[in-house]
Amino acid sequence: MAEPSQDLDALLAGALASIARAPDAAALRTIERETKALVEARFAALPTLPPESRKAAGQGVNRLKQGIDAAIASRREEFEAASLAAERTDPGFDPTLSAPRPRRGSLHPITKVTRELEDLFTSMGWLVLDGPEVELERYNFDALNIARDHPARDTMDTFRCDPEGKLVLRTHTSPVQVRAMERLKPPFRAIVPGKVFRNETVDASHEHTFHQMEGLCIDKDVSVGHLIGTMKTLLRGIFGRDIEIRLRPGYFPFVEPGFELDARCPFCTKGCSVCKQSTWIELLPCGMVHPNVLTAGGIDPEQWTGFAFGLGLSRLTMLRYGIDDVRLLLAGDLRFLEQFA
Ligand code: FA5
Repeated sequence: MAEPSQDLDALLAGALASIARAPDAAALRTIERETKALVEARFAALPTLPPESRKAAGQGVNRLKQGIDAAIASRREEFEAASLAAERTDPGFDPTLSAPRPRRGSLHPITKVTRELEDLFTSMGWLVLDGPEVELERYNFDALNIARDHPARDTMDTFRCDPEGKLVLRTHTSPVQVRAMERLKPPFRAIVPGKVFRNETVDASHEHTFHQMEGLCIDKDVSVGHLIGTMKTLLRGIFGRDIEIRLRPGYFPFVEPGFELDARCPFCTKGCSVCKQSTWIELLPCGMVHPNVLTAGGIDPEQWTGFAFGLGLSRLTMLRYGIDDVRLLLAGDLRFLEQFA
């Protein structure tokens, strides 16, 4: 489509006239959309022109575009100035009033509990580590002594990210144990708060996406006594007083011996709905780090020992704030979240 320069001049004149006639900012926006489409059509037609006339035609369309853009910008400024002037002369206008404050957000309850635990553990010399949410199967399972036929590898529990199954959404924060061992020289102590994912049937106490906090202490001659002492300190930090605990045997391939730690219900003495009338709350699995895991992390199990725990951060947050449904935590409902402001 050849575009003689007189035609472009006529187009520009027409556009400028309608811009000048625009009665308000909304009408100007409509004209802006229409003229933009018109200019774009002219640009799109350039490759159909004979090569020798393309340069001049392109320059013409550019002039058309610049002319229209400048006219629209200046007309918009006129509208803005007029609207400001109208506001100023409005009898209700009070220049001494302070500007409306931006609405303040608040920390998510899981973030609050995480930060409290981070403060507590860093005050005892622990590091706070992070790890990838999309994890290699090797760290999520193999290095943690979880055999190929372990039920946790079943696709029912694990979200797999590739057909070979080498990448998974981490099902727990424990893979960071081995990552930490590979990076840090013992002795060290670290916590790892973070999101984990399981292909679970969701209900009031089970989410597919939830938070855990791993704890790992590697040193010489670490004993179950150190583990118990640390867990009691953790509970005192969370509930503000000493809480009785008990250990039951628990099986996790990456600890030996492994335990389930129960805490005396912080809400009752005789049984309530939180502890399901038992006065005990199942709080966190823990144990002494298995020698195979130390070896996988490049640490000599003859020289070093350690304990590890895997706190259900979502469940602890529920206990802490009396939340009765885990699904509320990540639903993004502001009516729920604003209660923690
Ligand atoms: C683990 O994930 C082990 N990695 C924990 C561990 C770490 C053991 C270190 C020993 C040493 P488990 O699958 O039980 O274990 O999960 C730990 C905690 O996560 C549970 O006690 C529970 O509080 C929480 N949890 C588990 N599944 C869900 C879920 N679907 N929704 C919300 N919280 C959950």
